Amino acid sequence: MNVHASHTADATTVEEGLAIQEAQAVHDSESATALAMQNTLLTPRFYTTDFDEMDAIDVSSVRDDWDKLIAQMESDPNKGHFKKNEDWDHIDWDGIDPELRKEFIDFLVSSCTAEFSGCVLYKEMKRRGNNKDITQLFQLMARDEARHAGFINDALREAGIAVNLGFLTKAKKYTYFKPKFIYYATYLSEKIGYARYITIFRHLEENPEYRFHPIFKWFREWCNDEFSHGEAFALLMKTDPKLTSGRNVWWIKFFLTAVYGTMYVRDHQRPAFHKALGVDPDWYGQAVFEKTSEISKQVFPITLDIDHPRWMPSLKRLQKANADLDRAKKRGGVAGSLGKLGASARAAMAFLSLYTIPVKHHKVPTETRLEPMY
Ligand SMILES: [Fe+2]
Ligand SMILES: [Fe+2]
Repeated sequence: MNVHASHTADATTVEEGLAIQEAQAVHDSESATALAMQNTLLTPRFYTTDFDEMDAIDVSSVRDDWDKLIAQMESDPNKGHFKKNEDWDHIDWDGIDPELRKEFIDFLVSSCTAEFSGCVLYKEMKRRGNNKDITQLFQLMARDEARHAGFINDALREAGIAVNLGFLTKAKKYTYFKPKFIYYATYLSEKIGYARYITIFRHLEENPEYRFHPIFKWFREWCNDEFSHGEAFALLMKTDPKLTSGRNVWWIKFFLTAVYGTMYVRDHQRPAFHKALGVDPDWYGQAVFEKTSEISKQVFPITLDIDHPRWMPSLKRLQKANADLDRAKKRGGVAGSLGKLGASARAAMAFLSLYTIPVKHHKVPTETRLEPMY
């Protein structure tokens, strides 16, 4: 007998998880999907890469760690976790302050898009590959991301909206990244995802009065999935020492700066959301950067100096330039165009100022594997 799951949380494969979401898509709303379709520097993108090159990776140099990680993911500790249960409190969406509602929905839609972006990339690697190690890993990671995206969509549906994931797969623009850039970007996004979710989870554990939505209760198990995904990319990078040495260290610095900078700017666009959580976005940013940097020492030979006197002021300038850029775009006309030029130049200067802060060097340990420690 073939028993099929009826909720994405119970789906054991990515195909099953996506089929369930496809069946629910009739309820999905145009505005949320339009938001997810946006391609700016700050919104989550969809990626494609050279799948043959990735398929050729030989993991034998990290075999012991690899097998343990895969076995742990195969054991599937979070199967069935990502669905509403008795801990899910009722939310009065109509009673929520409109500013908070708008920012929270924006947060959910962009999180859902980011989860789904991982799902699509991982699923494609699994589909195109012939290397058993690689296809097995990517199947497992795609399974998790389909559940995560499905769960966020459950939360959105209560607000009367949802992202049409099937439509996104077909219609959203795909950005090509060489495999090595996929490793840096995806490794960092998995690890910073872990750090973001666990920081919010721990904060709300201590201050439950700020937990304005039940989805935050699911963040611990959630971020453990992201942690494992990051571990997998750390091992993949370990198979080729060239990826983390020589000229590539400049690329690592670039990705660290871009990922941290984007997070800072994006979070500052949601003041009401952070106020409701009782979180100062400056504090939150630094807390997340600190954790991510600590973890990334497992594979990167450098970390950014986030306590450097130029760090915070440059982040603030980057954020201000982006806010001005937004306003100039809305204004339009000649004044708008001039404003856009000026703001873009200021954003570029602020980024350069961040990028030229001297880094901290580390010796990368021979033992790669870490367990979630926060
Ligand atoms: Fe995820
Ligand atoms: Fe992930």
